[in-house]
Amino acid sequence: LHAHLTLDPHFTVGPVNRRLFGSFVEHLGRCIYDGIYEPGHPSADGDGFREDVIALVKELGVSAIRYPGGNFVSGYRWEDGVGPRSERPRRLDLAWHSTESNRVGLDEFAVWLKKVDSELVYAVNLGTRGVQEALDVLEYANIRSGTRLSDMRVTNGHPEPHRISMWCLGNEMDGPWQLGHSSADEYGILASKTAKAMHQVDGDLELVVCGSSSAQMPTFGSWERTVLEHTYDDVDYISCHAYYEEKNGDLGSFLASAVNMDGFIESVVATADHVKAVRRSGKTINISFDEWNVWYIDRYHGVDKVTGRDDWPEAPRLLEDVYSVADAVVFGSLLISLIRHADRVTSASMAQLVNVIAPIMTEPNGPAWRQTTFFPFAETSRLARGEALTLKLTSDTYETAEYGTVSVVDAVATHDAEAGVSAVFLVNRSQESSVVVTIDVRGLGAVEVTAARTLSDDDYYAKNSLADRERVGLVDNDSVVVAPGTVTITLPPVSWTAVSLG
Ligand code: AHR
Repeated sequence: LHAHLTLDPHFTVGPVNRRLFGSFVEHLGRCIYDGIYEPGHPSADGDGFREDVIALVKELGVSAIRYPGGNFVSGYRWEDGVGPRSERPRRLDLAWHSTESNRVGLDEFAVWLKKVDSELVYAVNLGTRGVQEALDVLEYANIRSGTRLSDMRVTNGHPEPHRISMWCLGNEMDGPWQLGHSSADEYGILASKTAKAMHQVDGDLELVVCGSSSAQMPTFGSWERTVLEHTYDDVDYISCHAYYEEKNGDLGSFLASAVNMDGFIESVVATADHVKAVRRSGKTINISFDEWNVWYIDRYHGVDKVTGRDDWPEAPRLLEDVYSVADAVVFGSLLISLIRHADRVTSASMAQLVNVIAPIMTEPNGPAWRQTTFFPFAETSRLARGEALTLKLTSDTYETAEYGTVSVVDAVATHDAEAGVSAVFLVNRSQESSVVVTIDVRGLGAVEVTAARTLSDDDYYAKNSLADRERVGLVDNDSVVVAPGTVTITLPPVSWTAVSLG
């Protein structure tokens, strides 16, 4: 099989915003407790945070983290999680049928984010709460001092404001499972009021309004339109959420999941621009793709879900998907899709970060390790700098049940003019054959390949686990041939590759 792509730094999509490499930490299962926070762990620092996890999060290169949910936020009282730990209430978490101990809250999370060099993106509860509580948490977090709530933060040991600039107005309010689920009109009106009030505190805040919780929702499209009709002047972003999984053994369709993500993004852009046109607005709304990943959601509903009236476990093992090579290839291709739309997707959060559908796993009092999905994220975050390029890609194709005829190879490239480096990210979706890819690099002048690393395995379902933590990793791709004006590389079946050009 063959593919050909032309890479020219003059043809750009837009700058790759560092916020594209964001993640998401929810009070869910063992993401926080026994994940990032485990005071009794041998690697715990003075604040109770696992230093082995901090090191992995830094290696992953996560730029911003959305917190504290997710479904959890729609029943959350932020004030439960601040002040002396001994006085914090234990509460029912209705979203995940768990007990929330509130040992970690806004202040601790802000401290942890400094340790991992990442930005805090905070979601307010618009499920069971509203304008006043959003204003309260904003005052607590961002005002220096001299008012009741800002002084409360100072008394709690945090004299410097957290200065959170990006805020999410609730979570997945279109979903019937969401606490406080509402119609697009109800939510749009509340989101607009909340945004206006928050802007009275600080006109520079960047606000994200909830889009659909998936492109499969019956209200998809009309939800975005109605919500933006209410909030267009008040917000900067609309959110997208998408999770993919292999269904019924159809690996071919699963490997083509980015086709669906491309269509999803383009539909939301079209809808936002429709509202822009109707309003004759000069403002453009961008996308915060603030939940995306591979997630075997049926496993949660079939195996993990807790329901008993007297059963409210604390930090249970929920959504602990173990990812294969094939999952990581799909995951890498989703990143390709996000970068391909860098002009309009200017923020994104891989969901989630530790233990819960996560690239990093931990055992209590035990090790932390990298799942297969860790590698494409870390490499892409490290290498995708500067501008995303418009690629001319031709490739052999294959047939899928879900998406019809699909390119065997998918790719995106970035170019950092200042540093004089480029990167190409590629996937081979074929299960049968390797692909020889010829990259026309004449537009870059003389280049050398400084690295080419591939994730693949003869067993597409190979995984890393507690018992075998380094079974899967990146390996150097030695097939690269550089000739004047072209770079040729062979991609093994079901693989993800990053090529660095200098
Ligand atoms: O990431 C897991 C859950 O998926 C989130 O809580 C919710 O927003 C989405 O449905």
